Amino acid sequence: MRPIRATIHTDALRHNLALAKSQAPNSKIMAVIKADGYGHGMLRVARALADAEGFAVLRVEEGVALREAGFKQTILLLEGLFSADELPVAAAHGLSLVVHCEEQLHMLEAAPIARPVSVFIKLNTGMHRLGLPLARFWAVYDRLKASKAVCEMALMTHFATADDVYGIDEQLSRFNSLTQEMRLPKSLANSAALLRYPQTHTEWVRPGIMLYGATPFADQGAAGIGLKPAMTLSSQIIAVQNLSPSDAVGYGRLFVADKPARVGVVACGYADGYPRHAPNGTPILVAGKRTRTVGRVSMDMLYVDITDIPEADIGSPVELWGENIPVDDVALAAGTVGYELLCAVAPRVPVAED
Ligand SMILES: Cc1ncc(COP(=O)(O)O)c(C=O)c1O
Repeated sequence: MRPIRATIHTDALRHNLALAKSQAPNSKIMAVIKADGYGHGMLRVARALADAEGFAVLRVEEGVALREAGFKQTILLLEGLFSADELPVAAAHGLSLVVHCEEQLHMLEAAPIARPVSVFIKLNTGMHRLGLPLARFWAVYDRLKASKAVCEMALMTHFATADDVYGIDEQLSRFNSLTQEMRLPKSLANSAALLRYPQTHTEWVRPGIMLYGATPFADQGAAGIGLKPAMTLSSQIIAVQNLSPSDAVGYGRLFVADKPARVGVVACGYADGYPRHAPNGTPILVAGKRTRTVGRVSMDMLYVDITDIPEADIGSPVELWGENIPVDDVALAAGTVGYELLCAVAPRVPVAED
């Protein structure tokens, strides 16, 4: 069998949840498990995080799968209804809905509904992605309050810059100026806000990336926050090439040896989810030693420099990211973020749990 696998560390998921709870002790945790649990397997993550008071997903099918697996917590569809025909399914399964635009209000008002739903009214406080303009809030709120399709309401917004120096002040003050007199439950914080801005710890917090043991920040690594990586992507060397000076490796001759070198060929490529843009020098672990990738990542293989790891050979273990090589370090080298790499692990990669 091809040696690549993703190992999911359920104890790390639990550890990261406990850390989130310790940071926001008075809030309920809405664990964000969309995108197949950020690539870790939605149901696997939900089982590991069963102590969370809620789960946030994107698609009604995901909410249904969680209910069918027996989860009784609040389950929020983060973008609400995409079409009116989803409403009866969402209602029948007790899923909570974001309402981020007036079209979604109309879907609720138009529906003959047997069972009312709980809604989270989403406000655009400055990100300009989803959310009602603040000026439309009261009109929509009044109509939702009057609607027989709605049983409970909460208020939410999402921060654009909780992870960087711009911070949250502007968005938070817009949110507060509109809602601070209201006694409805509120939900603001993503991982970055949960970790850095206690003033955003309202009834619900919505951590995603931190639960998987990666950092939301450019200026602070996951280990420094106390997080543990929940995924190790590992494989093995399947061939070794001995290079003479001026020999090149792989497509495009991206790496040319300037001295005699040994290069290992690893069974992992961009069709497994490893970033093709990872340049020469991306960190990687071979036979327990940190080294660097060389050459261009191809569909099914990539290359590692094992010149200084003489014991490395065919069959040697390779950690692409995980407990020794933070996914965030690979992401940084490849010009992306840990989120993207975790979500991109391909379906052909077998998943194991420990
Ligand atoms: C609306 C919303 N809330 C919370 C999150 C979780 O964010 P993070 O993974 O940065 O904690 C996301 C993630 O994209 C989101 O879209």
